[in-house]
Parts: sequence; structure tokens; C-alpha cells
Amino acid sequence: MSEPNVHTLYERAKRLIPGGTQLLSKRPEMFAPGRWPAYYRSAHGCEIVDHDGRTYLDMSSMGIGSCLLGYADADVTQAVVARVEAGAMSSLSVADEVELAELLTSLHPWAQQVRYARSGGEAMTVAVRIARAHTRRDVVAFCGYHGWHDWYLAANLASGDDDQLRDHLLPGLAPLGVPRGLAGTALPFSYNRLDQLEAIFAEHQGEVAAVVMEPLRRDDPQPGFLAGVRALCDSHGAVFVFDEITAGWRFALGGAHLNYGIEPDVAVFAKAFGNGHPMAAVIGRESVMRAAEETFISSTYWTEGAGPAAALATVRKMQRVDVPGHVERIGARMRDGLANLAQAHALPLEVSGRNALLHLSFDHPDHLALQTLLTIEMLDRGILAGAGFYGSLAHRDEHVDAYLAAAEEAAGVLAAAIEAGDALKRIGGQVRHTGFRRLT
Ligand SMILES: Cc1ncc(COP(=O)(O)O)c(C=O)c1O
Repeated sequence: MSEPNVHTLYERAKRLIPGGTQLLSKRPEMFAPGRWPAYYRSAHGCEIVDHDGRTYLDMSSMGIGSCLLGYADADVTQAVVARVEAGAMSSLSVADEVELAELLTSLHPWAQQVRYARSGGEAMTVAVRIARAHTRRDVVAFCGYHGWHDWYLAANLASGDDDQLRDHLLPGLAPLGVPRGLAGTALPFSYNRLDQLEAIFAEHQGEVAAVVMEPLRRDDPQPGFLAGVRALCDSHGAVFVFDEITAGWRFALGGAHLNYGIEPDVAVFAKAFGNGHPMAAVIGRESVMRAAEETFISSTYWTEGAGPAAALATVRKMQRVDVPGHVERIGARMRDGLANLAQAHALPLEVSGRNALLHLSFDHPDHLALQTLLTIEMLDRGILAGAGFYGSLAHRDEHVDAYLAAAEEAAGVLAAAIEAGDALKRIGGQVRHTGFRRLT
């Protein structure tokens, strides 16, 4: 019997695995339903060979931001293989945990202690537990996305507004399975809106355990915003937590907060920290982190050795090579090239976000059809491209050139589709999904 092709395999997956994939952002439906190749055989640099043996240049998310050095980076792979061959798990712990803690605290002198986990959302949950244990309080004020866990989805249990996550994660997320007793424990505020955070503190005097946010995402912090959050946390005795899961290492060597001179009480790293290998760290001030000795936080596979080996090799490489500078330059070339071809073809294409993490959208009533068509046209030219571009160290000028040459041809097709109003017909299937919905 011949091997199933990538699409029939995914159809089987949808019957066996609810939701198809383990991460919403990896669903093929989020790119081009029925066309995006769900499975891969191998990935090196910024090239992926899919399950059917087709080779693609990855100009999309590079493993949802996890492979900032590129796929199968030689230095990281060597360290991980050495650890695997030496035994990645045993009854004892690996010394790399200690060395890594020293490295993290030397890069972030405000932090003295470190705990480890293996994925971003769980590490954020560790951080929130520590903050709650330290303050003996329940309420978390947050901005942005921080994972799938109960403490966070509880925001949508709010009475009067059960869609509080619409601007932070996705609209219309039912908090099914999250205990109703958590209602009122997770309160959102918008980035750069200090007034909203002030209102939360005013309304919940003595109840706020933590303020949880990314130092930045799409927008720059307005002057005084991050310092204002720091001052509010100080005056109300709340723990200031920076989620550096996506921003860390991409915008600075360490947490992106280092660029702004604002010191949190806790910072959380995952994704690029292990460059494709599961690894996460919660770093913090000793006064706060000590609470982790009073509340039970413990897991078997947080002690395996491949994660710390990967993170040590990753961070050491980032100390040798200016990764933030590289992805900034590559992203700037992408942004300029896309702006030029949008202008040349009169396409309503908008490129937003920061150069190291670009976002593409269309200001057009058929925006989803146009995005899907762009992805399909790029797939036909051997390139994985979606609504975002996460640059990596593996992306070189020749990859940007190849992308822009293919995008130039695709832009012609899109311009013709807009002219004829037939983008949907050209897709010949469904438009991409944008949110969380049932697949079966
Ligand atoms: C800022 C931020 N926090 C938390 C998470 C969740 O991390 P993970 O998917 O590793 O659980 C993500 C993932 O996209 C993220 O970008």
C-alpha cells in the first residue's frame, strides 16, 4: 500500500485527533484549507520537506516563532544529540539546569532565581501561581495572549462580558471547562492604556496578585507606559510579570524588556529559548521566587536533559551572533519589498508589526479570500507564506529575493482577481479560518 498523501493523512487526523493539530496556529485551515501541507518529513535552515517529499522555503512562522536560529541548527542539534546519547532522562537531574540559571540571571541582573518548565503556557501558569502564592491574592490583570490555561481563559467568565479575550486572543471563545468559580480573577487591559490598569487597581484594592503582559508586541510602548505599569505594581504590591515567550531573544539578547530599561519581578521564556526543543524558564527576584518553595510546582519531564542542553546551546550561540539585528534587517527587506510590489500592483496589502515579526493583511472586503489566494499562489511556487513572517537567522538575502520574486508573480494574480472580483473562485475551496472553530 502506498503512503497516504499529506491531505488524506490530515483528513484521517481530524477523525482521530480532535481539532486536527495540537496548536491552533498549525491548523492547515488557518492558511489554505485543503492546500496547506499539514505534515513534514524534515526541516533544516529555513527549508521544509513535506510529508510527500515536496520542498518548501519557509517564509511563514518558523515553527510559530520557536526556531529563531533556523531549523535543526547545527550547534543546538549537536548539544541535544550529545545529551540524548548520554541519556536524556535519569533518576538524577542535569547540571545544565544550574549553568543555565547562572546564564539567565547574568543576562538579567534583576533576577536571582529560575524555575524550568517545557512549554510557554505552562510556564506562564507557573509564574501566575508563584505570584498568587507570594501575594496571597487572586486577581491577575493581563494584556495579550498567555496560553490556554484556566487562570487565563477565566477572563471570559466575566459577568456582563463573556468575550473579554476578543482583543487579546480571539473573539467568541467559550470558557467551557473552566470552573465558574474563577470568574472575576483575570481582568484584561489594553496595551498602552495605563488608565485601564489604574481602574483595575482602583476597583480591586489589595486583590491584584500580578500584572501580566508582553513588553511589546505589534506596537511600541508609549513613553511612560511600561514605567507606569512598574510604578502601579510597586504602589499596590503586585508582581510584575513580563511574558517574553515570543518577544524574548527576537528583539534583544534575553528579554525584550532589556531594551526599555524596565525591570519586572518575573519574566518567562519559551519558544525560541530552546530553538525547536521544548524548554521554558521562569526567572525572577528571589523575594518573589521563594514562594515556589511554599506552593507545589513539580513535574517529571521538567527534569529531562535535552531542553536545558538545547537552551544552553541556543543562548550561547545568541551571545556570539547578533540574532535580533539579523532578523530586524531581513524583516526590513521583506517589508520594503512587499510595500513596493503592493504599490506596483495597486494591491490593498498592509504590512504591520515589527520587522522581526511582520503581519500581512488586506484592506479589502474579500481580505480572507485574498490572503488564502496569496498563500496558494506562493505554495505553487514552493514557498510557505501565511499572514505573518517570523524572520530567523537561517533567512538570508537570497531567501528574501526568492520570496519577493514569487510574491511579484502572485501579486499579479491577486491584482487580476481583485479586478475580476473572482478571488474566491480562483481558490477553488474554502477561505482560510481566522479563529477557533470546530473542524468536524
Ligand atoms: C506571548 C505568548 N505567551 C504564551 C504563549 C503560549 O506558549 P505555548 O504555545 O508554548 O504554550 C504564546 C504562544 O504563542 C505567546 O506568544
